[in-house]
Amino acid sequence: MEYRVLGRTGLRVSAIGLGTMVHAGHFGPMRDEESRSAIDAALDLGVNFIDTSDAYGAGYSETLLGDALKGRRDKVILATKGGNVMVGPNRGKRDFSPAYIGRVLEASLKRLQTDYVDRYQLHNATVEVIERGEVWELLERRKKEGKIRYYGVSINSVEEGVAAVKGGRSDAIQVEYNLLAQEFAGEVFPLAQRANVGVIARVPLRRGLLTGKFTPADQARFQDDDVRARNFAGDRFQNELEKVERLRFLVRGPVKSLVQAALAFCLAHPAVSVVIPGARNAAQMRENASSVDLRIPPEDLDRARELWRSEFRGPSP
Ligand SMILES: NC(=O)c1ccc[n+]([C@@H]2O[C@H](COP(=O)([O-])OP(=O)(O)OC[C@H]3O[C@@H](n4cnc5c(N)ncnc54)[C@H](OP(=O)(O)O)[C@@H]3O)[C@@H](O)[C@H]2O)c1
Repeated sequence: MEYRVLGRTGLRVSAIGLGTMVHAGHFGPMRDEESRSAIDAALDLGVNFIDTSDAYGAGYSETLLGDALKGRRDKVILATKGGNVMVGPNRGKRDFSPAYIGRVLEASLKRLQTDYVDRYQLHNATVEVIERGEVWELLERRKKEGKIRYYGVSINSVEEGVAAVKGGRSDAIQVEYNLLAQEFAGEVFPLAQRANVGVIARVPLRRGLLTGKFTPADQARFQDDDVRARNFAGDRFQNELEKVERLRFLVRGPVKSLVQAALAFCLAHPAVSVVIPGARNAAQMRENASSVDLRIPPEDLDRARELWRSEFRGPSP
């Protein structure tokens, strides 16, 4: 495994991490044994960065992680998030008030069976919260108390990224970055590099599309609470599949699969400290980790970036 420094935190994170949204059943049904096998494989492979949220399965992913990490909490850099209300009358809304975040942070610690998280992230924070939120004072207090080591945001738009880096409160930012969504590489990544703000690249496989394993028939499988039902609705799925086909040129030489190409592409950007693909099981985790030593030739990187700029660019799902 390769380790990189996560911006100003100074934390040495594995270049390949593990996202655990899939373990809460957001990509169709999951079995806990499968999730545990992915977590066990991650640790065996030297992966030390695990990302979760109290929103994944309304706390289920955190509970599962807390159990799985019993006796080895110190082996991982644990990142969680709060601010998306998942239960009660405000379900579906966002709340970044100090009172709410204070409460849900305690609940996350309990579910994770730990006294501290290494990184606490405001989940889908808005520009207003980033620039003026009272919540930052709360996070600073919790940091002094030792309940949080570092804090920051997980965000969706370039505007939020610029605000987060310039605002100076986030030691690192979590953003979507992949072969089909390169928006943040334009303005935000260079800013982040100059400010020594780490970048956590999420959704690196575009919810599985960039594995190349889907066909048009798969769309019908994505139902109900499956995130892909919303992300890949209507014509979008077919359009994205066509783009994926055009990226197969990246599979050559030591790059044996599109998964490897997609993850190596993210890691090729010097702003990126860690990518956090969601691995459903040990086999996926192993394949993801195998991307770490691969280097995409510069001409292929240029071609993938140019394809996105000139032809793929469009609204993110
Ligand atoms: N707003 C936010 O803060 C936010 C939003 C989204 C995600 N995230 C974080 O980012 C993490 C990653 O994003 P994501 O899970 O949405 O998307 P992703 O990592 O792009 O895709 C995950 C899916 O890819 C498939 N996959 C993974 N490795 C594979 C392999 N080696 N071979 C074949 N298929 C493979 C699995 O699909 P199958 O189910 O088909 O096996 C898995 O469910 C999340 O877990 C979460 O921690 C944060």
